[in-house]
Amino acid sequence: MSLTLSHRLATAKPSTIFEIAAKARALKAAGQDVVSLSVGVPGFLPPQHVYAAAHAAVDADLGDYLPQRGSAELITAFQNLLKRRGFAYSEQEICAQTGGKGALFNLFLAMLDAGDEVVFPTPYWASYPEMVHIAGGVPVMPLAPAEQNYKITPAQLEAAFTPRTKVFLFNNPSNPTGMLYSAEEVAALAKVLLAHPQVWIISDDIYDRLVFDETHAPGGFAAQLLDFEPSLKSRMAIVQSISKSFGMPGWRVGMVAGPKMLVDALVTLASQSFTNLPAVAMAAATAALDGDQNFLDVQKARLLKQRDYTLTQLAEMNLPCPVPEGAFYAFPQIGHLLGKTTPGGRVMHTDVDFCGALLDEALVAVVPGGAFGDPTAIRISYAGKEAGVVEALKRMKEWVAQIG
Ligand SMILES: Cc1ncc(COP(=O)(O)O)c(C=O)c1O
Repeated sequence: MSLTLSHRLATAKPSTIFEIAAKARALKAAGQDVVSLSVGVPGFLPPQHVYAAAHAAVDADLGDYLPQRGSAELITAFQNLLKRRGFAYSEQEICAQTGGKGALFNLFLAMLDAGDEVVFPTPYWASYPEMVHIAGGVPVMPLAPAEQNYKITPAQLEAAFTPRTKVFLFNNPSNPTGMLYSAEEVAALAKVLLAHPQVWIISDDIYDRLVFDETHAPGGFAAQLLDFEPSLKSRMAIVQSISKSFGMPGWRVGMVAGPKMLVDALVTLASQSFTNLPAVAMAAATAALDGDQNFLDVQKARLLKQRDYTLTQLAEMNLPCPVPEGAFYAFPQIGHLLGKTTPGGRVMHTDVDFCGALLDEALVAVVPGGAFGDPTAIRISYAGKEAGVVEALKRMKEWVAQIG
């Protein structure tokens, strides 16, 4: 008799993004001068007081388990983050999770039965469909092509709903495209949702402060569905994380705010799975959320400069790319290069071939767009150190110029 895995995991795919990052790291370890534009790390570290709080938490450790909901201080810090955003939540309506990813995963476990449908626009963050599959759900992914600036229309959203729809998942600004839905566009989607009161809404707000064009992001925050239809609150889960806005992806601290019955379910899940976040991570996250937020302006100015540089270089490569107004990704189209031959003599049939050859021949790591539902694109994360971004785009430009 052979050993088998559960159906749930037998078809689950590991994260393409982390696979590419691992390949780039392995090449680097073997002495190759690889530059990576693959992983979505923000490219900056949190302020010093965050590290001081982490050290203090080590000194104060009591060697005990901790609250499954998250420490009282962290919950208050998240509550204040939401208050600054204009959203009022009680402590019972908030819980800490292991990053935004852990939050999303547990939300799907809490919301989905087998066959339930989850609607989200394509291109999507690569983990969404995999998480939905693992939880037994079915992803429904209306396509928002580059010609539509990678944004779905209200009519597309309406058409995606069926009697099996259980969840709508919204991410503004978007990973992988960096697209920012304007206030009017978000309001129009919110109106569609009003007519479907049986559908849960997950608002993945983890990039909400990384927006460049404040005309469409009042107060420096990306517009969200709850801004326009407060009644959606009773069936909405907001996901937040310190990973992207505070430069702390490895600390694994995220949050869910939502109706008490949903948050109670997540706390039950925590009590039967990861139990609690580590004290050191919670103390550091609390310090980050409570501390001076001005450093973000400096980082946003840096990211904007690198975005503009990236767009200039992509234009010189003749790779069409809708202008990203948020996050730190660009999602250029490469479909017209498929079928052609690389400088190293390989014929590229797919986006994976393109990225594999770019890595092997020019030592630049980017992610195939197919991982995000658009196999005619690639994703570039331009948040890393400026010198690395400049070098990677220079190599890529030389390489693309020789494709024949
Ligand atoms: C759209 C989106 N949601 C959620 C996450 C999860 O982030 P984390 O688990 O680091 O908080 C990411 C990370 O890349 C993301 O891009």
